[in-house]
Formats: sequence, C-alpha cells, structure tokens
Amino acid sequence: MAILTTLLILGVLIVFYYIFAKWKQQFWKRNGVPQLKPNILFGDTLLLTSGKTSVKDFYKDIYFNNKAKGQKFVGIYHALLPEIVITDAALCKRIMKQDFEYFTSHGLFHHKTNILTMHLFNLEGEEWKLRRTKLTPMFTSSKMKMMFDAFVIKSEQLFSVVNKCGINEAINAKDFLRRFTTDIIAYTAFGLDLDTLNKPQHEFREIGEESFKPRLLNFALEKIFSRNFLGNIGYQALPSRMVQYYSKVIKETLNYRETSGIERKDFIQLMLQLKHHGKIDDGMNENQKIQHFLSDKEIIAETFLMYLAGFETSSSTMTFALYELAMNQEIQNKLRGEVKEVIAKHGGLTYEAVIEMEYLDRVVKETLRKYPILTVIPRECTRDYKIPNTNAFIRKGTSVQIPCIALQMDPEFYPNPEIFDPERFSNKNKLNDAPWIPFGDGPRQCIGMRFGTLQTKMGIITLIKNFRIFLDKSMNPPLQTCKALILYSFEEDLKLKIEKV
Ligand code: HEM
Repeated sequence: MAILTTLLILGVLIVFYYIFAKWKQQFWKRNGVPQLKPNILFGDTLLLTSGKTSVKDFYKDIYFNNKAKGQKFVGIYHALLPEIVITDAALCKRIMKQDFEYFTSHGLFHHKTNILTMHLFNLEGEEWKLRRTKLTPMFTSSKMKMMFDAFVIKSEQLFSVVNKCGINEAINAKDFLRRFTTDIIAYTAFGLDLDTLNKPQHEFREIGEESFKPRLLNFALEKIFSRNFLGNIGYQALPSRMVQYYSKVIKETLNYRETSGIERKDFIQLMLQLKHHGKIDDGMNENQKIQHFLSDKEIIAETFLMYLAGFETSSSTMTFALYELAMNQEIQNKLRGEVKEVIAKHGGLTYEAVIEMEYLDRVVKETLRKYPILTVIPRECTRDYKIPNTNAFIRKGTSVQIPCIALQMDPEFYPNPEIFDPERFSNKNKLNDAPWIPFGDGPRQCIGMRFGTLQTKMGIITLIKNFRIFLDKSMNPPLQTCKALILYSFEEDLKLKIEKV
C-alpha cells in the first residue's frame, strides 16, 4: 500500500513538473522570440553543463546557426530559466549603448551581507551609477602614468625570473604571467609587494584562485532565488576563508596608510582620498561640487574586484598574444623591431614610449579580437524591452548574452577570422563598424581597460624585447579551449622555448 501511495505521489509530481516545465519553456514563444528545442529537464544547455563543450563554443554555435537562419536573436533555456542570445551586431550594439537604460545590470548576485560581492561589476541601477562616477577618475591615463613605475619594477622582475630559467628548459608562460599580473595588482591595489614571481606559493594567490573555480550550485541558486531572499537567509556566495582573508589584508593596508601617513602612487591612495575628501586630489577636480565619499566596505569590495577583474584577464591576453607571436615569427620580429626602436628613441621604457608603439597596439587588439577573455558579455533586462521593428519582447529580469567571440570571429566583419593579422587594425584598413568589444561597450564598458591594456603591453614588451620565443615541441597547435572555466583560456599550459636576443 505504502509503495503504491509513494508511486502515486511520484506520478502526480512528475505530471505537475511536466506541465510546469512545458509552460516555462514556452516563455520565449509567448514573447514572440524564436527558440530552440529545449529538453524538459536540462533546457538547451546540457552540452554546457555536462562539460562537453566550452562557453565559447556553445555560444558561437548558437550565433552562427541562428544567423544562418536569418534571425537576429534566439531564446534558450538553462533548464527552465530563459536567456536570450543576440545574433545581430547592430542589435548587440543597441543593447549595450543606445538602449542601455533597459539593460543596466550584469545580472549577478550581490547583497550587503556578502561584502565582497558589493562591487562595481555586480551593482546595478542608481547604486552602480554612483559607484561608477566615484571610481572613474581612478582609471584615467594620468593615473596610469602615475602608477607606471610599479609596472616597470614588476616588468624588471619578470625579465629576471624568465632570464634565470635559461635556454634549455621550456617556460610555462601562463604561470609566469599570472604571477606577474598578481604582483602588479597586489602592488597597485592592495599596497603589497608580494613577489610571487620569485616565490610562487602565497596564500594571496591560493585563496584568490578559488574564485575562478566553477560554482554550478551557486550559479543555480543565484538564478533561481531572489538576491534579497538569499542575502536574508544568510547565503554566502564566496568561501568564508576568502572573505576573511581579503577583508583583513585590505583593512590592514588602509590602517597602515592612515596611521603612518605614508603615501604611495597607487589605487589604495586614490581610494583613501575618496574616503576622506570625496574626490581625488590631483588638481583636476577643483570644480567638483558634489563630493563622492567611499566607505571602508566599498574600498574592500572594489579592491577585491580589481584583483578578480584584473589579473586573469590580462595574463590570459598576454598568453594568447605570445602563443600567436611564437607561431608567427615575422610578426614577432616586426614587433621586436618597433619595441627596440621606440625605446631607443625615448631613451628608455617610459609611459609615452608604450603609448607610441602602434604595432604593439595592433597586436594586442588582434589578440583580443581572436581571444576575448569574456567570450560572452552578460546583461540583465531591467525594464521590459520591445525589440525594435519586431513584435518580440525581452522581459524585465531575463538574462541577455552578447556573444562577443562570435561577432569577432564572424567572416562578415573579419575575413579569414582564424588568421592572426594585426594589420586588420592599421589605419589604412579601416574596420567599418566591425564589432570589437573585448572590453564590452557603452556605459558599462570595462573601467580598467587602460590598466589591463598597459599591463598586457608591459608583459609583451618585456619578453619580446629580450627573448626570441618559440612553441615548445611538446605543444601541438591548435590548442584546445578549457571547458571548465567561464573565462577563455587554453586547456593545457603554454610551453615556450626562449632564446636571448
Ligand atoms: C585585458 C584585460 C581585461 C579585459 C579583456 C576586460 C574585460 C572586461 C569586460 C568584457 C567587462 C564587461 C563590460 C561590459 O559589461 O560591457 C569588464 C568589466 C569590468 N572590468 Fe575589465 N577587463 C580587463 C581588465 C580589467 C582590469 C585590469 C580591471 C581593474 C583593475 C578591470 C575592471 C573591470 C570592472 C570594475 C568592470 C565592471 C565595470 C562596470 O560594470 O561598470 N578590468 N571587463
């Protein structure tokens, strides 16, 4: 009898789930948006969640298949949760720029009970706008120039560590470059001289790297339940060890700077100016009438974000650049020629010299075209939006994906997209409106773009100026994409052979 009852209850539950799921998975149809054929349990993302494909390939396939049907957008489901993928360059641009007011959020979990989540990337609406206004003056070119010495110190350390490795052993490029960017961010944002280049084992790295591990359960919870509900029941998005460690490190630096009166040319100093004066004291904000103060909690969240947003993105970009340079010796030689010539002209490696390196700029742009680290750029619809010239709607609360990688690998905009060709970005080859959005676009465009580009360029200059680089014979290109990570990276380590120039 008990078994029969259990079976009956189970049967009823299954029927209810079936009806509910069918209804949920008609969401896009009800809103006039074409959709794929979702599986009743997994929606359209089984290949992704089971690790059979990478984020990059998943969205690339959707883009090209949908574009081939002449459609500009398509609805998909993560199990029962709807998401729309935009497959038209003009509509992507519109969503990020002209119609930004409908898509002001990245749609990510944040709550005041989770101090490290309350940063610019996650905030939305007015809270985001105000924070962005406060932080923007920290990322101008004059601030990059102010911090340039830090980049030089860390680049010299990078050179000396790679140089010590010698000619005979292959170097693990990604590992060196991650240590390089960790050291730069720790130095400029946390006020710490870590030197992980020489001493790789450090809790700063070990704890931080946990934040890049896939968090499927967290992702599901954060998508299903409201932020307020999760925050109020004590949900913690990040491991408590991470929260405690970074909060403590940042508080200690703030304390030290405030009590000792020591000043340095770094982000912490700029944030302290915002904390105490509500503006940055660089003689450029004299007319700033409204003061925008930054609290200790805000400083902690933003400093943590700089680490998250700054170290992996730039080290991966450098790794991809070196991979291409190793495979394209002509481009590498041309780049080395420019680097040496401009440095000689300026009598050393100065900020101005880096800015003057035009070919280097093209190499970095082409790297970010072929290998945008955030292969899809997320938005959340924050106000019901009728897609122009259609009867389709994107409803408030739904996720939107801008498939950056697919746009940048689309032969319509970039002929022979697999070929690494920095000349695409030369003045004579003007790219008429071809989408180039590795830093996003519109008001939410990456605030650290200058910083990220500068550290990427400094790493490349340091290595290319001093070494000729080749792929180690253990490498078998094309290298595969890592399926487990959201950010674009290779599955295997990039091993390079180096020769002193
Ligand atoms: C090559 C390096 C980098 C790449 C490729 C990159 C890429 C991106 C992308 C694609 C976005 C989302 C933009 C959008 O939604 O439209 C973003 C946002 C952001 N990035 Fe970067 N980034 C890099 C370096 C950095 C660095 C070094 C920092 C800080 C020191 C940083 C801080 C941020 C912040 C704070 C946001 C959020 C901006 C907002 O929502 O208002 N990024 N980045």
